[in-house]
This record gives sequence, C-alpha cells and structure tokens, in this order.
Amino acid sequence: MKNFTSVHDVSNLQQLVQEGLHLKQNPYAYKQLGENKTIALVFLNPSLRTRMSTQKAALNLGMNVMVLNMDKEGWALELQDGAIMNHTSVEHVKEAAAVLGQYADIIGIRSFPGLKNRDEDYSEAVFNKFVKYCGVPVVSLESATRHPLQSLADLITIEELKTRPRPKVVLTWAPHVKALPQAVPNSFAEWMCQADVDFVITHPKGYELAEEFTKGTTITYNQDEALADADFVYVKNWSAYEPYGKVLPGNEEWMLTLEKLKAGNQTKVMHCLPVRRNVELSDEILDSDSSVVIHEAGNRVWAAQAVLKQMLESL
Ligand code: CP
Repeated sequence: MKNFTSVHDVSNLQQLVQEGLHLKQNPYAYKQLGENKTIALVFLNPSLRTRMSTQKAALNLGMNVMVLNMDKEGWALELQDGAIMNHTSVEHVKEAAAVLGQYADIIGIRSFPGLKNRDEDYSEAVFNKFVKYCGVPVVSLESATRHPLQSLADLITIEELKTRPRPKVVLTWAPHVKALPQAVPNSFAEWMCQADVDFVITHPKGYELAEEFTKGTTITYNQDEALADADFVYVKNWSAYEPYGKVLPGNEEWMLTLEKLKAGNQTKVMHCLPVRRNVELSDEILDSDSSVVIHEAGNRVWAAQAVLKQMLESL
C-alpha cells in the first residue's frame, strides 16, 4: 500500500481487517519493520484518538514518531496557488509539505473541510496539495470527505463483535449544535458498501449524503424502521450536502435513546467520538452495555497499525 486515503487504496479489505485483529493479539510482532523509519503526523485540526492511536501504532512497529500541530505551532500556511503572500500567511504549502517530506518516510495529515465551498472540499484541495508536494507516502488522519482509519477501526469492531455472519448495520443521523463534516458518514458508508454486511442509512429529509459514497445502499427517512433487528447502530451527525454545510432546523427527536432500541436489545451502539452527551446520544445509552464506543476507539490502534505495516512493507 503506497498511500492510504480511502477504501480504494485497499487491495483486500478482509485481509486488512484480519491483519488488524492479528496485530491486536501480537502488537510487537513487527517491531523490526519500522526500525529507522520516521512518521510525521501533521494536524491542521484538533484530535485525541487519531493522534494517540496512530502514534501508538507506529511505536508498536518500531517507528520514530514526530507530531506537528500545524494549526497552532506551524507558520500560517498559504494554500492558494499563485498567492501574493503580503498578508497573514507566512509559508506556502509547496515548501511546507516538501520540507516535511525531507524529514519523514511516511506523512499523516489531518485536514478538515471549510464547509463553505463544496467543490473545494470535495476535490480535497488542501489534502491533495500535501500529497502532491510532500513526495512520500501519505496516510489520511481525516480529510475533507473521508476518515478511512476510523472506518477500518469500525469494521474491525463489527467483525469482532458480530453474532451472525452477515450483520445488519445501520448508520443513523443524530442531532448536533454545530455544522459537522460529512467525512465520517461518507467514509463509513463507503466501507460498509464493500463489507459483508446488510447496510441501511437513515436520516431526516435534507441530509442525503453524496451518492458516490452510498450507491446501492438502502436509505430511509424512517428511523424506527431502520433500527428494527439492527445488530449495530452507528450514530453520527453531519451537516447537509445540499445546501452545503448547513444545519437544518428541527430533528432533535433523532437522538438515539434506549427506548428506540427496545425492539433490538442486543443492538450494539457505535460512535466515532467525540460525542456530545444528551444531544447526539443519551447518557443512558453511553453508560449502558449497548455502547461499544470505548472498544471501538481502542481498535483505532490496530487499524492504524495494520495500515502502517502495509505501508512500511511497500517502502
Ligand atoms: N474519532 C476521531 O477521529 O477522534 P479524534 O478527532 O479525537 O481524532
């Protein structure tokens, strides 16, 4: 694997999931693989899980790890080609990415969308500039439209906890107080479409995701109907794709509660975290045995380690 930016970079999905599960049992089996190799993790936005789990994964593989909080500690970055840099930006991404590529064998990048210009976000304008100019393999730590390390951890979690060969997995929209990116639900949908699961998406009218991520999936506006017999419910807020980046009024009743899960009391509830309690998900769910969110976050290490292992093997 050269780059890891989406499920399309994965040649064998089931093998990658099994690799993650194998590494969970044997975390230090490939300690020699990353010897004298360096990964630089570059964050243009905040992170807890992605930052710590990817560091842990790289350390398990014997790599050196450097972290740069570019939004807080780097020079103010210019992203526009041809810009006359006579205002606040200090360093162009052309130099910044190329220099980072001199110091690292693999670069991880987190770059959220602006949620103002859909074409710019969906062309991955910022992320792709790093890929273009850094000159070394890149792993996505979440881009404008996808979060593949999260999706792999989610799939590993489903594989581990499923109780029937082809589980029913439901992605349900949840309320939030802010406009959030579509990266997590886009990516989750894209991965579930390739996995051996019965996949359903449910959301209020107006929150349709881009078709390129959901093609062939059952989509319903009836949350109760979708939740029936679900083995896994993936809870996530996202802002509208059209009108782009907007929060539509109402829909507070979409918050998942134990009452809504009563028909399927074996249902496991997933969320990528961070979660706003009693807005997206009730306390009673998060504090119940139905919640697997901590287990899921733990699997971020094995997802990252499986990906980095394959990337190191391709260097
Ligand atoms: N789920 C996730 O990516 O968490 P962080 O934003 O804390 O990295």
